[in-house]
Amino acid sequence: MMNHPGTSGADRWNNSKTDLKMKYGHFDDAAREYVITQHKTPWPWINYLGNKDFFSIISNTAGGYSFYRDARLRRITRYRYNNVPADDGGKYFYINDNGSVWSPGWKPVKAEVEDYSCRHGMGYTRIGSARGNLRADILYFVPLGDTCEVQRVTLRNTGAMPKHIKLFSFTEWCLWNALDDQTNFQRNFSTGEVEVEESVIYHKTEYRERRNHYAFHSVNSPVAGFDTDRETFLGIYNGFDHPETVFSGRPRNSIAHGWSPVASHCLETVLEPGEVKEYIFVLGYIENPDNEKFIAPKVINKVRAKAMIGRYDTSEKVDAAFAKLKEYWDSQLSVISLSHPDPRLERMVNTWNPYQCMATYNFSRSTSYFESGIGRGMGFRDSNQDLVGYVQMIAQQSRDRIIDIASTQLNDGSAYHQYQPLTKRGNAEIGGNFNDDPLWLIFGVAAYLKETGDWSILDEMVPFNNNPDDAASLFEHLRRSFMYVVNHLGPHGLPLIGRADWNDCLNLNCFSSNPDESFQTTENQKGGQAESLFIAAMFVLYGADFVTIARRRGEIQMADEASDHIDAMVRAVNEHGWDGDWFLRAYDFYGRKVGSHENEEGKIFIESQGMCIMAGIGLEDGRALKALTSVNKHLACEYGIVLNNPAFTKYYLHLGEISSYPEGYKENAGIFCHNNPWIIIAETLAGNGHRAFDYYSRITPSYLEEISDLHKTEPYVYSQMIAGKDAFRPGEAKNSWLTGTASWSYYAITQYILGIRPDYDGLLVDPCIPPDWGGFTVRRKFRGAVYNIEIINPEHKSKGVWEITVDGKKVDSCILPVFPEGTEHDVKITM
Ligand code: BGC
Ligand code: NOJ
Repeated sequence: MMNHPGTSGADRWNNSKTDLKMKYGHFDDAAREYVITQHKTPWPWINYLGNKDFFSIISNTAGGYSFYRDARLRRITRYRYNNVPADDGGKYFYINDNGSVWSPGWKPVKAEVEDYSCRHGMGYTRIGSARGNLRADILYFVPLGDTCEVQRVTLRNTGAMPKHIKLFSFTEWCLWNALDDQTNFQRNFSTGEVEVEESVIYHKTEYRERRNHYAFHSVNSPVAGFDTDRETFLGIYNGFDHPETVFSGRPRNSIAHGWSPVASHCLETVLEPGEVKEYIFVLGYIENPDNEKFIAPKVINKVRAKAMIGRYDTSEKVDAAFAKLKEYWDSQLSVISLSHPDPRLERMVNTWNPYQCMATYNFSRSTSYFESGIGRGMGFRDSNQDLVGYVQMIAQQSRDRIIDIASTQLNDGSAYHQYQPLTKRGNAEIGGNFNDDPLWLIFGVAAYLKETGDWSILDEMVPFNNNPDDAASLFEHLRRSFMYVVNHLGPHGLPLIGRADWNDCLNLNCFSSNPDESFQTTENQKGGQAESLFIAAMFVLYGADFVTIARRRGEIQMADEASDHIDAMVRAVNEHGWDGDWFLRAYDFYGRKVGSHENEEGKIFIESQGMCIMAGIGLEDGRALKALTSVNKHLACEYGIVLNNPAFTKYYLHLGEISSYPEGYKENAGIFCHNNPWIIIAETLAGNGHRAFDYYSRITPSYLEEISDLHKTEPYVYSQMIAGKDAFRPGEAKNSWLTGTASWSYYAITQYILGIRPDYDGLLVDPCIPPDWGGFTVRRKFRGAVYNIEIINPEHKSKGVWEITVDGKKVDSCILPVFPEGTEHDVKITM
């Protein structure tokens, strides 16, 4: 396909996998760290700090920001996206060593440093380097259960002469609402207020009126001076790379009145040869009850801040808090641990993939280096899917999350597409009417039940639309999700798509020709009958869970009726959903086929192949295999499986946003990694372990480390999209971290390839692996017991369990029973 005059993407980029060999660091598996040793990564490589309320994003050169719960409404420090130079602004430290000024993270000063490293670990990041016989290391982490970030700076004189140095900290405050902060300058330049007391700088903008929260930055040592006014600290025409105060070595003790309040401490010290000094900075967030806001007119009540500072004011206390964080992560990550000869697989399964699931669970698609934290809150469909990658580690929080999500459901079964994490209210401004949304709630709840066995959740009374006067059991919410589809069928008996289904950009009813409106929110054209094969398959797949759940609750008639609806849907798919070599994708507004060989472009789509086969459709009659062959032929490429083919080369009014993207990017024939695991799972259902694992490794970051220059994003987390074969630069990734790829890949590898799958009555084992694998072992914690599972593959099979023994005794079922809590069992599986 010639989509660029003269050259195709592949030609132009000339088989990049071999040409662009470049690594920027390495995995330290024992420490569960990725160690970046080249500071100029192809894109800032970030980490997340924080577990529950206080969060930070930090890049490998200390860029980033912090927020309390909601990156839009409660932004603590400021960050400018898409900045020039890239990634400017963060939690910076500057050293003035007798006139030589540098930063331990290289940025922002960018003076040459030696032995630079950034270690991104589980909930912490260490950044350090050396210059002129001085070594500086900073440990950043958010302690468990507290609303602050600890920054421990360690300085070491490695030379033979005493050193007289000045250390400056720097943080720029955000005026709380991140959107307003970047837009409403007529007001904001007049509102900023601070207080300074001893070594603590307090940021209290708007605290006088409606806010009951402030932030602070402290250090556990007397200061030689400070600055809180940005222009004074930097000099109005300087960048972060050249603060006047740092270069002159003279803090000005400025107090911000409006403009841009910042926090900078200046410490002065002498280091003898070999001497090591440590300073502990705390960036904290405090809320005060209304009647305890002030201790005198205009003077904020600092009691809680001081208590927080006191919790981390010595190295021992910081060590202890850091040790707790490590213990926490070790315990979280001990739920599933794999031993396998391939370290690239082990490090994904044991560390980085579940760690990324933590981030998607916490932030949905709201805040990363590609998501500004302003646009999107928690997605209804996204959060349900994110849960599936994380539920095994945080059962109680998952329970709460399910209730939060379900509380935003409307009483006709439909859903807000997004809600704000702080208010937990549906956000209509982001759009609605995505007709797949309701079914994801069944998927999320079923995953929770299978993992925990906690059926009581179904009796929880949960409001609709957060209205306490309109509540029903969670089970009733599931019924309405199911019935929403039944009540919205189109002319072929297939589900109406609404605004869109999983593919936000397949806007079949939208007909937008106005560039000033959003595809996601604009009014749909009335009278549309567009139908989705994807939702149809989802209904068959997750509808079956609804039936099981209903039946187990004794709702036999309801279960039977639901089964009938599912059977009817299977018939509709069989009659109207097969194109000859693959499953159709949809019917458009006018009832014409989408994703058919009859179409000029977009003849085949990935989503309906994955979902239909996962739903079991076509597995018996050969259509599934045919569809998978078509996927392999038309969609698979070196870097993964593209979403559709051929890519759309022009805008189609009746297809919407999908055709607005250049070929090979995002939903228009990009490798939209989220849906690759559906094909991976489908391949395992078809028994093809070789292909399943091959597809897995094409998108899995640890396998892409060697091509970091091309891939660009972090080699330790999945990206939402890798440019597809029709793109200008195939293989280049974007939108790392916050993507459904995290939970789906984890789900696919642990539950379908390794094949250890929680089910309602126990742990099902049914691996589907490349035949050359000799075996592997998995230690799995499940409902309080430990399963030590050894899988051996002497005959080099892909699939099929020959024999299972539990504690030495042969058993007949592939479902391992639920064992008493606290017990440990040896399971041996021969394939
Ligand atoms: C993106 C989608 C995203 C949607 C809603 C589109 O532009 O391509 O991936 O889900 O916007 O924000
Ligand atoms: C990203 C959205 O967050 C997700 O919900 C959607 O399914 C994909 N884009 C595909 O459009």
